[in-house]
Amino acid sequence: MNIALEGKTVLVAASSEGLGFGTAQAVFQEGANTWIGSRKSEKVQEALAKLKSSVVQGQSGTGQVDGSPLDVTQGSSIEAWVAAAQSRYGEAIDGLVINSGGPPPGLFADFDDQAWQNAFELLLLSAVRLVRACRSGLAVRGGAIVIISSTSVTEPIEGLILSNALRSATVAMAKTLSRELAPQRIRVNCLAPGRFATGRIERVDAAAAERLHCTPEEARRKAEAAIPLGRYGSIEEFGRTACWLLSPAASYITGQLITIDGGMTRGTW
Ligand SMILES: NC(=O)c1ccc[n+]([C@@H]2O[C@H](COP(=O)([O-])OP(=O)(O)OC[C@H]3O[C@@H](n4cnc5c(N)ncnc54)[C@H](OP(=O)(O)O)[C@@H]3O)[C@@H](O)[C@H]2O)c1
Repeated sequence: MNIALEGKTVLVAASSEGLGFGTAQAVFQEGANTWIGSRKSEKVQEALAKLKSSVVQGQSGTGQVDGSPLDVTQGSSIEAWVAAAQSRYGEAIDGLVINSGGPPPGLFADFDDQAWQNAFELLLLSAVRLVRACRSGLAVRGGAIVIISSTSVTEPIEGLILSNALRSATVAMAKTLSRELAPQRIRVNCLAPGRFATGRIERVDAAAAERLHCTPEEARRKAEAAIPLGRYGSIEEFGRTACWLLSPAASYITGQLITIDGGMTRGTW
């Protein structure tokens, strides 16, 4: 199947490592003009070098890859990032991936108003602002938005109250938006990852190891035992799914939350 991303423009937020990087790599390897960004300029440069060498090593990409610093919690940073992408690749945007780091873990009693405000800016307001900045570009020839969410929206995760609450709001916004933007041929979907081997999950395992008085490797094995496929996902597996969802190959899918978790969540829906 040709997923027809060649020559399209795809912007991937928070993509210098982890799930965002895996997605940028997949769309770049499919020939899209790929634009990446995260807060630390040196991480963006390292990621660009890695992406370029992944193609030199024989994969089929024919698009360009570039990027600039981006802090999704700052409206002005989002506007500058999107404008820089459009000045590099032209006004039309075919794909937008909305992503960020996760909010801090903790219980209800741990967080004051400022912590809730920060989580709102990180997870919901960032999505609002990214969509606002890209909407006219996405309307030029139709396109797709993918929001990286979490299985916490269908099964709240203990000790992650900020993520559970704010990500649910983002998914509800995406569903509403999918109906509003459909007449402009813009699809809006969310992906709900379970556990993927990224820096963030390494930190989660290290924290669990401290709590459980075991090694991080033992904490990982325990977490993997709760996943029917018996392992964490790779960023390449995540990237392939996101890439397909962004592409014209998924042209009739909008307004959906798609779980990608090796069978980890137990509910039917
Ligand atoms: N990995 C999983 O299994 C999993 C499961 C469920 C949900 N999630 C969620 O999916 C998202 C990505 O997870 P991940 O595991 O890929 O995380 P990660 O490995 O920590 O990578 C996060 C990426 O986001 C960038 N970033 C962080 N804050 C940012 C900001 N304010 N503005 C722009 N870029 C920012 C980081 O680069 P800089 O440091 O340079 O900014 C980095 O490139 C997170 O929200 C996470 O909670 C992950």
